[in-house]
Amino acid sequence: MSKFIAKPANVLSGNIKIPGDKSISHRSVMMGSLATGITEVYGLLEGDDVVSTMNAFQSMGVEIHRNDENIIIHGVGIDGLKKPKKSLYLGNSGTSMRLISGILAAQEFDSELSGDESLSSRPMGRVISPLTKMGAIIESNDGKPPLKIKGGQKLKGLSYDSPIASAQVKSCILLAGLYADGETCVSEPAPTRDHTESMLKGFGYDVKVNNNRICLKGHGKLKAKKIQVPSDISSAAFFMVAASIAPKADITLESVNVNPTRTGVVDILKLMGANIDISNKREIGGELLADIRIQSAELSGITIPEDLIPLAIDEFPVLFIAASCAKGETILTGAKELRVKESDRIQVMADGLMSLGVSCEVLEDGIVIKGGEYRQPSSVIKSHHDHRISMSFAVASLRSKFNIEIDDVENVRTSFPNFVELANSAGMCIEEIYE
Ligand code: S3P
Repeated sequence: MSKFIAKPANVLSGNIKIPGDKSISHRSVMMGSLATGITEVYGLLEGDDVVSTMNAFQSMGVEIHRNDENIIIHGVGIDGLKKPKKSLYLGNSGTSMRLISGILAAQEFDSELSGDESLSSRPMGRVISPLTKMGAIIESNDGKPPLKIKGGQKLKGLSYDSPIASAQVKSCILLAGLYADGETCVSEPAPTRDHTESMLKGFGYDVKVNNNRICLKGHGKLKAKKIQVPSDISSAAFFMVAASIAPKADITLESVNVNPTRTGVVDILKLMGANIDISNKREIGGELLADIRIQSAELSGITIPEDLIPLAIDEFPVLFIAASCAKGETILTGAKELRVKESDRIQVMADGLMSLGVSCEVLEDGIVIKGGEYRQPSSVIKSHHDHRISMSFAVASLRSKFNIEIDDVENVRTSFPNFVELANSAGMCIEEIYE
């Protein structure tokens, strides 16, 4: 067990290189494993979540080698996976579990997927239900992990109108669709991150995208390729908020993924009055990259437009920190998905903010945060096994007069292993204590 003691700081400066995008890293490993030939991945995020995905494919017979500069995946082809010797343990990673379920639903062998305490409480019915319609047989613990997937089922194509805006649901169905007879289509109620469909195209697969509907036909092939993973905007978000709320800040985050399905955080912060400049936009391997400069700003509370929610879905914990430092009220509604992330991010953030003396009203599908000062030393903040809670409250130290102590922070390694090092090099003062 380790904890953070985040001490007050108020200056942030420098050029910061944020690690690779988690969503793109997972997909690189999955598609590289299912491709024919050798896939080289540069800039892969080696956080615990992506390592869980790598371990899963290695235990299904895929050779993956790490070099100093890249990761080499010896793809086994779409039908080349082998039965793992034991249950696949996916730690904290919802992306691994939901996407890999789609692939495993179509294999000849039986398999079992499990995870840690947080993952074991997350809803899987959202993927079990469409996969079952495709012909899969999956047992669960009342809609939660562990999942037992029966092998030898022939999947058929499905036309699915997803009731939730979820890239994980969409991706799971599309990956199962690779193995299904006929065509599989997914329509989403609002656009979500599109890395699966764009990477499938990059691997030479024929995918048709028409507004919010994505279709592909089964039994094609993926061709190995070279991948450059851009920096993760979800990790960059901690520094965007940090620089916005710090009394004196001027930082630049280089080569960050600014795929329009991910930039809701920039739009929300700009609506709050943040000083963010995006420059040097360029496309690499089907993804848009840019450099992002952020300087301190006086933020104001806003009503967050609901159409931006899926485009900023992982950034709300740290956006709540921004709201707690803004003038006036920030109102978020229509965001009940936040209750089923690595933790219940509405309640857990509200508990932490209230302990810092910020007044919040918890709504069923959102929150109202009254910005102001952190009036009191907080009790120990509980991260509830959620990396983004740990990092968000560390960022709050840029406006606190007191130390902020956050428990159980090993989870930060799932998405941002060098967070403390980068934060401290830019001017923050976070101590990690191993107990
Ligand atoms: C992800 C999709 C999102 C996001 C998660 C990563 C992905 O989940 O919260 O961190 O890589 O597809 P949902 O699809 O559940 O919204």
